[in-house]
Amino acid sequence: MAMEQTFIMIKPDGVQRGLIGEVIGRFEKKGFYLKAMKLVNVEKSFAEKHYADLSSKPFFGGLVEYIVSGPVVAMVWEGKQVVSTGRKIVGATNPLAAEPGTIRGDFAVDIGRNVIHGSDSVENARKEIALWFPEGIAEWRSNQHPWIYE
Ligand code: TYD
Repeated sequence: MAMEQTFIMIKPDGVQRGLIGEVIGRFEKKGFYLKAMKLVNVEKSFAEKHYADLSSKPFFGGLVEYIVSGPVVAMVWEGKQVVSTGRKIVGATNPLAAEPGTIRGDFAVDIGRNVIHGSDSVENARKEIALWFPEGIAEWRSNQHPWIYE
């Protein structure tokens, strides 16, 4: 079975609004495995690196200010197709367009306060995990859950 990993970040608004448990619960109950997690304040230069692909966008400055405005929860989740399925759990970028039942659809209104980040490809997940967890991540019980994974 091909297991994937994805990088999920609860943004400062999600932390301040008490949504950490809600977000973790949705990924956990789905059947994905939490492989790494930390609550951190990031520097401006680090946020700029994370969002480097968007550096030419008009909203880039505001986005970086938002990400450094308070602690974020950085996580690695593992499971079958966790990158694309994680994006579905997160919902569309603009919360007003995000379906009810998704995190952004249920808990956010403004695009610039959309609670959560999720990697958009396996390749970007690999890069983001390397950026956020240079210390590496724990090994544990993958593939020992016959009630979730065949
Ligand atoms: P993007 O990578 O396009 O979306 P996603 O987070 O769904 O992968 O954009 C990164 C973040 O930038 C997005 O979560 C919110 C912010 N953003 C704005 O503030 N305004 C915008 O018009 C867009 C497209 C994004």
